[in-house]
Amino acid sequence: MFRLIAAIGMVATVAAVLGHFVLFGPKRLKDPKQARKVKRFGIWERLVHSITVLSFLGLACTGFYSVLVLGSPLHGWWWLLHVAAVPVFTAALTVMALTWAKDGMFVPLDWDWALRLGGYLWFGKHAPAGRFNAGQKAYLWAAAFLGAVVLISGLGRIFPVFDAEGQDLVYQVHRYAALLFVLAGITHLYLGTIANPGTLGAMMFGKVSRMWAEEHHPQWWETIKDSHKSKK
Ligand code: HEM
Repeated sequence: MFRLIAAIGMVATVAAVLGHFVLFGPKRLKDPKQARKVKRFGIWERLVHSITVLSFLGLACTGFYSVLVLGSPLHGWWWLLHVAAVPVFTAALTVMALTWAKDGMFVPLDWDWALRLGGYLWFGKHAPAGRFNAGQKAYLWAAAFLGAVVLISGLGRIFPVFDAEGQDLVYQVHRYAALLFVLAGITHLYLGTIANPGTLGAMMFGKVSRMWAEEHHPQWWETIKDSHKSKK
């Protein structure tokens, strides 16, 4: 049953984001060619984010390869690879959450972003946002929460402490939390790439154009624009 739910969930999420892309297209900037001069992420933030993503992919691929392709419980080399990625993922996700905790705090204007659904539908195109928008903040905390759930439930499978029924519950929690994490990850990937041109570059090179900053994160741009006046 989980195999079917996982397959349907993944196909439906990919279809939903591609459907959104076809219907609404990307959030294009007025001048997409403007040079990247505004620093968005330092090397530390990019490194921690990259390690989190790579170790997450390692866990998701080994876990779901077993479920979707092999159709059997995680075992052998796949189990070993899965468990080997755990310390890296746990450390990277923890450091990432701590690094961005301050920027991830919700503030009153996030309500406005949420009510406009970030400007991703037909209305409220210009949603306000600080360094992170309300969706990014929600994703940061959801990732921290789901990370804790998969860690505790995964450890609960490695070191069983309950009876058979309890262990099965732990197993179900692990696989469904992991599935939710992957579906949220697919949406995050869509929003950070083709839905918002210029955003992937922020994570790769650490810099964005002024227009990107002004249009996507206007309240953040307000706080840093003075330091960019001299660098025309
Ligand atoms: C971070 C700590 C994690 C630990 C300690 C952990 C540990 C484990 C263990 C021990 C199993 C084997 C369960 C069993 O058959 O008894 C397992 C299975 C699995 N894990 Fe993880 N895991 C972690 C994170 C993740 C993440 C982040 C994902 C994906 C997003 C994931 C996806 C899966 C999947 C899909 C399975 C197979 C479930 C099934 O057979 O239906 N795990 N994990």
